[in-house]
Amino acid sequence: MFYKAGQHKEAGFSHDPFKALVAPRPIGWISTLNSSGGVNLAPYSFFNAVASSPPIVFFAPNGKPRQGGVKDSQANAERTGEFVVNLATWDLREEMNQTSAALPSSEAEPEHAGLEMSPSNLVEPPRVKRSPVSLECRYLQTLELPSGSEVTDNFVVFGEVVGLHIADDLVDSKGMVDITKAKPIARLGYMDYAVIEAVFSMQRP
Ligand SMILES: Cc1cc2nc3c(=O)[nH]c(=O)nc-3n(C[C@H](O)[C@H](O)[C@H](O)COP(=O)(O)O)c2cc1C
Repeated sequence: MFYKAGQHKEAGFSHDPFKALVAPRPIGWISTLNSSGGVNLAPYSFFNAVASSPPIVFFAPNGKPRQGGVKDSQANAERTGEFVVNLATWDLREEMNQTSAALPSSEAEPEHAGLEMSPSNLVEPPRVKRSPVSLECRYLQTLELPSGSEVTDNFVVFGEVVGLHIADDLVDSKGMVDITKAKPIARLGYMDYAVIEAVFSMQRP
């Protein structure tokens, strides 16, 4: 079958399948500091690495927040110049989901989800203590993408990874990371997720 983007209903889909097709998507669980110094934590599955030298990641806030303006993670990263990406894992799936709730600014997501934070080394926003991987990032730039809609904003926020935390038990005796031990979760379409438990290797031609 084929349909033109935006015409999934006419093609017989009850829900737009786009996000179920670009899957799995890693989840960047972003910690930032708000203007009062409080910790903000939220998951973004429009997230990925885009360069390795230096290492650069992005997360993409979209939609319009209820209170107007931009989403807190974006506003905080732009204002403070820093954010931390925490790995969302099978063990932390419920907590990760809890932190996507739109809370009043007086209520911090980590407390709401029962999560303890640990200090970072090079940036101010703390990291999720139980997450086995955290990437300390310095904000680089924001791109605003066209949305063609009054109700949607599309931004992409880039940051350079300046410090990496890796739980010792993920590193094997040969100095390689076994990411299956962390059981990262990834976003699929609809309300679905995947969990990474198996890997295979191939040599490039
Ligand atoms: C697994 C998951 C992935 C999400 N991915 C995104 C995303 O890529 N972009 C986005 O704007 N919102 C995404 N959301 C919704 C945000 O987490 C939610 O809007 C949150 O309240 C934003 O928080 P903030 O304003 O503190 O940044 C996602 C939610 C979940 C549960």
